[in-house]
Amino acid sequence: TYLCGGSLLSQTWSLPAAHCIPYAAPQGTITVGAHNLWNSGTNYTIKSIVNHPGWNRYKRNNDVALINHKSVAFSDTVKPICLPSPDVCFNEGTACVVSGWGYTTERGPISDTLQEVAVKIIDYQTCSDSTMYSTMVFPDSQVCAGYVDGQKDSCAGDSGGPLACRLGPNDPWVLYGVVSWGWGCARARKPGVYAKASHYHDWIEETTGGFGKVSLPEKA
Ligand code: ARG
Repeated sequence: TYLCGGSLLSQTWSLPAAHCIPYAAPQGTITVGAHNLWNSGTNYTIKSIVNHPGWNRYKRNNDVALINHKSVAFSDTVKPICLPSPDVCFNEGTACVVSGWGYTTERGPISDTLQEVAVKIIDYQTCSDSTMYSTMVFPDSQVCAGYVDGQKDSCAGDSGGPLACRLGPNDPWVLYGVVSWGWGCARARKPGVYAKASHYHDWIEETTGGFGKVSLPEKA
């Protein structure tokens, strides 16, 4: 079994990375509301999984999937994250937050408790120039985030988890990226590369039927 994160989009849909989905007939459960990986959270049975039709394991492009599961009970600690509009735009240098139970150093181990770290959006030109991923051409369905000096990054086991960004301190967090890949972890000039959720807006709407009816519990 592998470790992966994901984001709740509604009570019945969540979004992990496509590379998190095993080849064999996907089945099992998702866990929500966990802090400690081993002894907290609630499991919900998976009903079906839809990989993005353009997912390419070798190019690592379109690294997104959708999981339809039993209806999740929302609470103070279990909530869906907003999807950004397709044309959302964050400036280079915007600090976003990535989280997960993945490796705390490049060689592991994973973390028992949920970790989060701020990483900054890096523009395409910088990310693909000779000082970073050299000649790599990034499709606009991916986004780089991290630091020139490395040190802070997502890593193995964080895949599928959210890169959450917000336009301003009073704006909602939106799912901007999905942890996808990187060269090592937290290395200098090798930032994390994320699938850009906004690019998949239409596919998500079509596949799920949209989330117009999602409602959060009333605040007490
Ligand atoms: N592919 C990894 C996983 O399966 C995630 C790697 C992210 N790497 C990075 N340097 N940000 O968990």
